[in-house]
Amino acid sequence: MLDRNDVAATWIDESSGTVSREIFVSEDIYRLELERIFSQVWLYVAHETEIPNPGDFVTRTMSDAPVVVVRCDDGSVAVLLNSCRHRGVRVCRVDSGSAKNFVCPYHGWSYDQHGRLLTTGFDKLLPAGTDLSTLGLVRVPRIDSYKGLIFASWNPNVASLADYLGDFRWYLDIFFARTPGGMEVVAPPQRSRVKANWKTAAVNFGADNQHIFTTHVGPFAVQPVTIPWPQRRQAMEDGVQVVAEGRHCVTFTLTKFDVPFALYPPELRTLLATRLNPDQQAVLSGLISGAGTLFPNLSFIERMIPSTEPGAGKTVLLRLWQPISAGEMEIVSWCLVDRESSPTYRERSLSDGLRNFGVAGLFEQEDVELWASIGHPSANPFAQAHPFNFRTAVPVLHSPVTDFAGPGDAYRPLLSEVTQFRFLQYWNRMMTGAK
Ligand code: FES
Ligand SMILES: [Fe+2]
Repeated sequence: MLDRNDVAATWIDESSGTVSREIFVSEDIYRLELERIFSQVWLYVAHETEIPNPGDFVTRTMSDAPVVVVRCDDGSVAVLLNSCRHRGVRVCRVDSGSAKNFVCPYHGWSYDQHGRLLTTGFDKLLPAGTDLSTLGLVRVPRIDSYKGLIFASWNPNVASLADYLGDFRWYLDIFFARTPGGMEVVAPPQRSRVKANWKTAAVNFGADNQHIFTTHVGPFAVQPVTIPWPQRRQAMEDGVQVVAEGRHCVTFTLTKFDVPFALYPPELRTLLATRLNPDQQAVLSGLISGAGTLFPNLSFIERMIPSTEPGAGKTVLLRLWQPISAGEMEIVSWCLVDRESSPTYRERSLSDGLRNFGVAGLFEQEDVELWASIGHPSANPFAQAHPFNFRTAVPVLHSPVTDFAGPGDAYRPLLSEVTQFRFLQYWNRMMTGAK
């Protein structure tokens, strides 16, 4: 067992750009992550549009604890530990739904939407003076939201969500709050289990631009070409990757179109210019694709729908990498659209999202097959003597560019591994108690 006061400070080596293999396979390190990261920070739990009405709920996991995220009768959101206060049974047994009360299936203890115990069913048999108000479902102490994204934290003393997101809000706005209506989820999330460490996915989306040219060469070869490759290559040159607050990462492939927001359906173009400031608009208007990771385990991606028509629109996905163990995670994946989208575009966007990032999606299968092959060969001491390489981060690590308008540390080239490496450096600081 890893001694909590004796964690290695050598997991990440800045001078060589190397990262220990152990952090992707060790169960001891995974348990320490639950304690030092997942129990401490804000975690994404749901999108507001998944639970629009009183009684609407979804079941999720925070750290390694099952929770119910529920819209209460007063419009507030409660996040409740999904474990009965009687004998611990999982009270809510479905992924989502709408309920006035939650009744435990074992002996019938009943709770309201706020988690308050209404009755045990045998109240008369309780000792005199038993106070039912002390026996409600355990409430997650901190809940807040930003532009439709609901977060919660097990840490009652965590800094505000606004502070935690900090400058990264500038980028979240571009993806999730660029029209008056904001974004909404199109359908319930797809869920799948993958035998890979959660950080593998977090850094891939936060963002591994190099793998696109090998892992995903297949779909690019067969899908319709919206933007000719010379222009796309230039867009990668003109793109930028950013680390905000030292922990949240985003990457953009950028070009310039004659028509602002040319990749979006015409009915959305004027709306896209109404909420963002001019610098944010300039990014979104020329955005071919973008991806990012909000520390620790929420990623997102926006990519153009392959079509010979530039206005075919975009696919936007939120992706949660929910750790199950050092070697396994659950992927929870939502498709979103701007609320003002037409039914046709909504359908097209969802369909493209599922074709490429659904459980059987082209990009998804290409990625997870490779991620799942990392653990086994990395678990033995012969391999662990040889760390992973993020060496292309080193030449630019301390040289952010200054010509990008957004906040945070911006870097070029897009193909360096600098944001992934900085994500892991922040992870290392939290794990070693330096943060
Ligand atoms: S365990 Fe829930 S009512 Fe007994
Ligand atoms: Fe990928």
